[in-house]
Amino acid sequence: MDNFFANLPEGHVLKTFYLEHEIILKTLKEISELNDRIQNIQSIDSAVPELKKLQYQATRLTDSEPHHQREENALFSIMIERGMGGPPTVMTMEHVTIREYKHKLKDISVNYNGLSWEEVKTKINSLSIGICQMLGNHIQKENTILYPMAHQGIPEESVWQEMRKKCDEIGYCSFTP
Ligand SMILES: [Fe+2]
Ligand SMILES: [Fe+2]
Repeated sequence: MDNFFANLPEGHVLKTFYLEHEIILKTLKEISELNDRIQNIQSIDSAVPELKKLQYQATRLTDSEPHHQREENALFSIMIERGMGGPPTVMTMEHVTIREYKHKLKDISVNYNGLSWEEVKTKINSLSIGICQMLGNHIQKENTILYPMAHQGIPEESVWQEMRKKCDEIGYCSFTP
């Protein structure tokens, strides 16, 4: 674990975000590997087991919605109040695109009837590559820029406690450790 996160106490808002990122990154790796396998399958009938796995992994991604909600409504809002509005604004815009990709990927893994296998594969390929790049970069920026900036710019322990309460109210992901 990165030193910055290793030094945060258990249950710190930023540490929970970081641990969730680690799980999201694993899911992205699974999706990338599944996509590679799917691209080599010749017919929709023999692809059904892999499509089921894709549906499962894409659902794990859509399950990360409370993570984005907590970022936006507990952390980013305070950063904006404190004059650190740039990075949170960019990250919030990225959440919109990321949401769209996640839902489209989940959708194509289930609703593929009426499309040719080539069309399904092409869609899965571009959505998988798109979400892996976009969400991978997004996580990297939050881990290395936004979270350390928030930690430095918000020195009061009491404010982090308030954020923690707000996070508890919003709720966690099915996979939050
Ligand atoms: Fe985010
Ligand atoms: Fe995040």
